[in-house]
Amino acid sequence: MQVIEIASPGGPEQLRLVTRPVPQPGEGEVLIRVAAAGVNRPDVVQRQGHYPPPPGASDLPGMEVAGTIVALGPKVSGLTVGTEVTALLAGGGYAEYALAAAPLSLPIPAGLSLVEAAALPETYFTVWTNLFERGGCKSGDDVLIHGGTSGIGTTAIQLAHAWGARVFATAGTHAKARFCEEIGAVRGIDYRTEDFVEIVKLGTDGKGADVILDMVAGPYVQRNIEAAALEGRIVVIAVQGGARAEIKMNTLMIKRLTLTGSTLRPRTVAQKAAVAEGVRRNIWPLLASKRVRPIIHATFPLAQAAEAHRLMESSSHIGKIMLTM
Ligand SMILES: NC(=O)c1ccc[n+]([C@@H]2O[C@H](COP(=O)([O-])OP(=O)(O)OC[C@H]3O[C@@H](n4cnc5c(N)ncnc54)[C@H](OP(=O)(O)O)[C@@H]3O)[C@@H](O)[C@H]2O)c1
Repeated sequence: MQVIEIASPGGPEQLRLVTRPVPQPGEGEVLIRVAAAGVNRPDVVQRQGHYPPPPGASDLPGMEVAGTIVALGPKVSGLTVGTEVTALLAGGGYAEYALAAAPLSLPIPAGLSLVEAAALPETYFTVWTNLFERGGCKSGDDVLIHGGTSGIGTTAIQLAHAWGARVFATAGTHAKARFCEEIGAVRGIDYRTEDFVEIVKLGTDGKGADVILDMVAGPYVQRNIEAAALEGRIVVIAVQGGARAEIKMNTLMIKRLTLTGSTLRPRTVAQKAAVAEGVRRNIWPLLASKRVRPIIHATFPLAQAAEAHRLMESSSHIGKIMLTM
């Protein structure tokens, strides 16, 4: 099979199209003939050498695919050869065939193409477990989403809005901020020219945000604390602005805040299966009824994975970048 491997840590030119044997499914796994794979920011960080795959995972990049099951490993039940699925992987998605854990292989939501379905697992699982499970986002909450036009951000805005929350979202240009409003935010905030703390406070009559989904950290952590409401929950999912932060603990105490965070990839299959069950029960119906949709910015053939990474690093995209086989 043709795959994209990371020749050595570095720039997009390190992504090389090579041939490898088709893997064989082990216990509890299915083999998927991949139609499309999603490109995610963590793939870029892996390529740069800063985010190694967890033990036992494929060394190939790619954490989500959609395609057709072509073989079943031992002890797989409830799935059959020929079924189309979308699957969350710990790696190995940039390939013509990929192995997936059976509990993380979900049916294609009604009405979605395989390319659209491949855009779902990484962002929908991440947003479900962080914004809803950890952050406790509920109807009526005021929610602040950083990076509103990212793959994660476009998902989080739509889901929070569909849930009945009022969404504020930051993005790096005026046009991107307006796009956040088109997909459900009450106010998109251009973080380069506007102060999100001030705007969230003004937009909530001084109360602040009940939940904040943060992919920046660094200097944003204290500003999030200032923008949060009493009993607010701040969930950190990435540290693009730096892993260290100086914060005022007294504000944290006075507002009775929860500051938390998580990563998805290193969790066990059983832990991810619990997230998959929540996604299937709560989110799949919203996709089938078209209340939320994957937003796809661009699609590249597998051989052009380096171009796909260059586009992601330019940050000029809105939504997801996809690879097709
Ligand atoms: N914890 C987890 O389990 C998990 C899982 C998946 C992804 N992630 C993380 O989630 C983030 C998004 O992933 P993705 O694949 O959706 O990537 P992406 O589309 O490349 O998005 C990165 C986003 O970060 C935004 N950003 C950068 N600096 C910012 C700042 N100072 N203020 C506000 N926004 C800022 C960018 O906004 P502009 O382009 O507008 O500047 C861009 O929208 C990545 O950092 C990724 O590592 C975490």
